[in-house]
Amino acid sequence: MSLVGLKGMSRERLVGLLDAAQSFLDASGKPRTPAWAQNLLADRAVGLLFFEPSTRTRVSFELAAKRLGATVINLNAYESSLKKGETVLDTVLNLEAMGMDVFVVRHGQRGIPAELDAGVRAPIVNAGDGTGEHPTQGLLDTLVLRRRLSDLGGAELAGRTITYIGDIKHSRVVRSGANALRTLGATVRLAGPDALLPEDASGWGGAEIVRGGRAEALRGADAVIVLRIQRERFPAGQLDEGGYGQGWRITREALEAEAKPDVWVLHPGPVIRGEEMEGEVADGDRSLILEQVSAGVAVRQAVLLDVLKVGVSWRQAMSRDA
Ligand code: NCD
Repeated sequence: MSLVGLKGMSRERLVGLLDAAQSFLDASGKPRTPAWAQNLLADRAVGLLFFEPSTRTRVSFELAAKRLGATVINLNAYESSLKKGETVLDTVLNLEAMGMDVFVVRHGQRGIPAELDAGVRAPIVNAGDGTGEHPTQGLLDTLVLRRRLSDLGGAELAGRTITYIGDIKHSRVVRSGANALRTLGATVRLAGPDALLPEDASGWGGAEIVRGGRAEALRGADAVIVLRIQRERFPAGQLDEGGYGQGWRITREALEAEAKPDVWVLHPGPVIRGEEMEGEVADGDRSLILEQVSAGVAVRQAVLLDVLKVGVSWRQAMSRDA
């Protein structure tokens, strides 16, 4: 089974993935691969096909696969036969014919992972498709928030408010994360300047749009997920750049004046310091940014095992854990 998006994912699969990922984190939230898991993918080959820039997502998929014992092949899209005009589907079919078992795909065009999923037998993992979805990012954000905000340490985020702030309209991070957070019962709000908000939130998993300014956006939030302005996805001039900085940048002063004192601050990266967020907030004691990055490795381990149907009884595994 592939992982193309979180929209429509059953609660059972979602919680199963989060619980599995949790078993790849230590008590402080750092990645760790227990001895029982180190060879689970020893006979599998994982293909990483990244047609867009990536640091965290690509490296953490590679690390996740290698820590489970897999062979990893990085296809440099810019040096392959794709440059000669071969389609992505043909490329993947050829790699599959060599015996590769799973493909992790990032592409600037929405829908490519779903197309590949329809055309090849191997599972496809969407690592971000244009303004479509970014399911592993949505999972890792949900994992971190569940760890920090769930009173029971269990699955529930009911009664919690998570607010995404910034470039909502072009964000695949929101489209995935909002669905997962809503499934766990959280209230999800979307805020940003009008030019960067969608007309309606129907594609955003039951999230609510908060109109108004930064103060309204921050009010009452248990966590805010700040997003980069994705200029590569919209024409220049669509945004009043000066206005963004004045009105929306997340600063220490704004958090102190407008947010709950115990608000958590997240960002999927890359953080453009001084633009959507001040560096001192990114580095501050309410920031979970590096904890997100750590969780990313664990989530990608859980996802690779899930799509490759490597059955592990997590409870059992944890009980014989070293
Ligand atoms: C995001 C992406 O590529 O969608 N980054 C990431 O995967 N960590 C967000 C972004 O580019 O702003």
